[in-house]
Amino acid sequence: MKQIRIPGLIDVIKIDQAADIKQLAAGETIDRTFEPGGPLLNRLLVGGVLKTLSWQGLRFPTMRARAAEGRAANQDQLWARLSSMAPQLRQAPDTLEPLARWLRGHEDGVHVGQLLQQVIGSAFVSGYTASAESWAAAMTMGQALAPGNALRKLVWRINGRVRTAKALLASLAGNDTSAMHATGVAIHNMVKGMVQMRALYQSEPSLDPAEAARRCLYAPAAVLRQPLRDGNVGGCPFSRRTLLVLELDKARQVSGDEAMVFLSQSWSRCPADGWVPALYEGIWKRALASSAS
Ligand code: HEM
Repeated sequence: MKQIRIPGLIDVIKIDQAADIKQLAAGETIDRTFEPGGPLLNRLLVGGVLKTLSWQGLRFPTMRARAAEGRAANQDQLWARLSSMAPQLRQAPDTLEPLARWLRGHEDGVHVGQLLQQVIGSAFVSGYTASAESWAAAMTMGQALAPGNALRKLVWRINGRVRTAKALLASLAGNDTSAMHATGVAIHNMVKGMVQMRALYQSEPSLDPAEAARRCLYAPAAVLRQPLRDGNVGGCPFSRRTLLVLELDKARQVSGDEAMVFLSQSWSRCPADGWVPALYEGIWKRALASSAS
């Protein structure tokens, strides 16, 4: 845990213990309301992330408050729809061949991010067509959200680069902010998973597909929360003006607690918590099957 507090300037606590994260995530002291106010740097940080993760005045689902209108219903519906696709994905359908080919070591001049974007986008919109441009738009989103490089962020705000990137992702996704989140933000975590899977495929091709998939799941680096009232975590007091950064990936690495990956036991659980492992399993199986034929 790390607290950075300079009155009036910044008030942030970074939490990297799985037990603390679980306790906070299960309770009702923190949320994603992101009320305006607080110290200067908190306002700038949260304001920047909210600006990037909003479209046409609507926040992306990962930035919406627990009780925001329609959030929980959308989450449940998406979970049900994605989970119903999981068994078929596990059967390694033809649509996974480009990713399986990449896993086997072929490049074909297309970034693996674009191949993933095609599969993710198709789960939302039939006929979704990823391109080098849509993958570049996802890269812009990832860079806009990465810490640091304030100058580049300022330039992008002036020249509208992030807005243009979102407009492209939105046009492909029918303005669905869950799909924009998946194809522009969550996708980077999955690219990391694919890179890991390619290395595993080289070194341990005899791995059980479900185990291979499990080893390629990474938790998001961090998710943001704001306290609804004063409280404390691990003996560290916080107020409504504190920004809480839940460092999921670090917590998972330290504790090995796999619940950090999708926060599946909390109200904010990822609706793709069954779909992503099934996709990974299908890609692995497809790669093995096509190398055998
Ligand atoms: C390896 C890939 C992924 C991981 C590790 C992951 C993890 C997570 C986590 C930890 C959250 C909770 C965020 C928070 O508490 O603030 C979340 C939320 C969410 N994820 Fe994922 N995700 C992944 C991929 C996806 C994909 C592919 C989709 C869509 C197809 C998706 C859709 C969502 C949505 C819509 C939410 C917001 C749920 C809500 O609170 O209403 N995620 N994800």
